[in-house]
Amino acid sequence: MLKLAIELGTSVTKIYGVGSGIVLAESTCLAVSRESGEVRAYGNEAKRLHGKTAEDTAMVFPVCGGEIVDEPHAGALLEYFLGKVVRRAFRVEALFCVPCGTSIQSREKYYRVAKSAGISRVEFAETPFLVALGQDVALSESNPVFAIDIGAGKTSTAVFSLDGIIAGLTMDVGGNRMDTLIIDHIAGLYHLKIGPQTSEKLKNTVGSLLEYDNQSMIVNGRDVVTGKPRAVTVSSGDIFYPISKYVDKVIEYAELLLRKVPAEVSAAMCKNGVYLAGGVAAVSGFGEYVANKLQMEAHLAEDVHTAVVLGGGRVVGSNALMRKICLK
Ligand SMILES: Nc1ncnc2c1ncn2[C@@H]1O[C@H](COP(=O)(O)OP(=O)(O)O)[C@@H](O)[C@H]1O
Ligand SMILES: [Mg+2]
Repeated sequence: MLKLAIELGTSVTKIYGVGSGIVLAESTCLAVSRESGEVRAYGNEAKRLHGKTAEDTAMVFPVCGGEIVDEPHAGALLEYFLGKVVRRAFRVEALFCVPCGTSIQSREKYYRVAKSAGISRVEFAETPFLVALGQDVALSESNPVFAIDIGAGKTSTAVFSLDGIIAGLTMDVGGNRMDTLIIDHIAGLYHLKIGPQTSEKLKNTVGSLLEYDNQSMIVNGRDVVTGKPRAVTVSSGDIFYPISKYVDKVIEYAELLLRKVPAEVSAAMCKNGVYLAGGVAAVSGFGEYVANKLQMEAHLAEDVHTAVVLGGGRVVGSNALMRKICLK
């Protein structure tokens, strides 16, 4: 049996194979013909078409805000990804990395999608555990850990020990909402309408939570008055607000969570700090910003993009961790 950890992220699907490591990281999207329903492109190849397709081609994002919203396309995409990493004859056991507090109904959707893609055995684990395990934190019953996974559609934060979640929360905040706000913000600042790919690239290239960061990038878009193509130079400071607005939201929720845990747990949090991962954690200065706001040490994963699925790989590769971490 081949053991995989799979994160079907809102933005990026990551797959870890026990014995092989990270074997796939591709966009969770498809390009589909509106007329025939035929899939024209999958994954990264489809993503490159985003915002550039002709009328007849629709972009489909089958996972939205961490939830499967289109089971047939999610199944087709997963089958395509598995085809890239698994030889046909293998039976597959998969651990799905899901946001904290994912409902039974949502897990049933994952289950059906996984079965339709040919997976034999399906298990689930919540991402905050995996953020910590992906950073090689040794979990125990007596030492609570605090972790945040900040992705494209959802952010999950939890305080937990090997015994389970002490307090956890998932919110609809992530990179996608930042991208949308950046589009509006640039339209307001420069009267320039930019596309979704440009907005995301801008955030990921010059976005920064460091006060004096002064990176810049030339972006192309359409003048909202004349309708003509135009370019402007956008700096880190220009997009500080759309990024910090949502990071501040995450911090607000994290503080709420910390207020809910028993005093002993709080004390342990102060000592242990917070573990951070998820794509948005790659924004410059994220660790320092969170540490400063929460007044505790922040441990940023070495590779924030893959830490969760790496943690999932640790779980699926260990019977003891499977018994402790998997959702019942
Ligand atoms: N350097 C970066 N700065 C800010 N955001 C980033 C950076 N790199 C990636 N992201 C964002 O992280 C998100 C993807 O993170 P990921 O954890 O893979 O999300 P998911 O698991 O929800 O698919 C996207 O919104 C992407 O734009
Ligand atoms: Mg994720």
